[in-house]
Amino acid sequence: MRGQIRKVFRIKNERKKNMKIAPSILSADFANLERDIHLVEKNGVDYLHVDIMDGHFVPNITMGANVVQAIRPIAKLPLDVHLMVEKPEHLIEDFANAGADIISVHIEATAHIHAVLQKIKNLNKKAGIVINPGTPISAIHAILSMVDQVLVMTVNPGFGGQKFLPEILTKIAEIATIKKNNNYSFEIEVDGGIDDHTIRQAKNAGANIFVAGSFIYNAADPAKKIALLKDSLEDRL
Ligand code: DX5
Ligand code: ZN
Repeated sequence: MRGQIRKVFRIKNERKKNMKIAPSILSADFANLERDIHLVEKNGVDYLHVDIMDGHFVPNITMGANVVQAIRPIAKLPLDVHLMVEKPEHLIEDFANAGADIISVHIEATAHIHAVLQKIKNLNKKAGIVINPGTPISAIHAILSMVDQVLVMTVNPGFGGQKFLPEILTKIAEIATIKKNNNYSFEIEVDGGIDDHTIRQAKNAGANIFVAGSFIYNAADPAKKIALLKDSLEDRL
């Protein structure tokens, strides 16, 4: 009996350990990026999420590999680079050389997803596949064995500060079931509209990496918001 209780505790703790918060610097103050990176790092987060937009794949332009290169020596945490660009195959090497640790590409952005993921792996980076709200999970079945993470978009990509789409929860659960049934090792990340309520919904559906931009950075006290996200993950709210 006691052994069983210990086992339940161990499983719970392991699950907790695996939960990661990834602030998106898209909502940081670009004139004070160093300050805003340190601000979240000192409050115990796990990744820095870097949103790259090209004005074609999404209707917005953000930053390029030069910004990743500039923040690499400043940041202690792994850089989780989310490429919202058409034909990412042309940019993988630039972002790898700039210091990205994880490079995630959209299934909708290339006709050559297998080759793109291979390229990322060959550069010794973690590879992620991203899926838009309108794309079915079946579109990524064929490459799930190759990826380190699956990023399920919970808003339409392009802008920070949008509302979480609750209908995507079933997709998160679907990918979590596929992972379990096939013994895949990828992590499940969610991105868009994450706050202290939606983070728990996404966690319960099976996600373990949570990107949050405006909820953290648009607040008067970002440290408090990070604490709220953690409390919510640990069911303390
Ligand atoms: C949206 C980006 C997100 C965005 C998240 O296209 O991929 O990472 O910055 O911002 P919030 O948390 O404000 O929805
Ligand atoms: Zn993102």
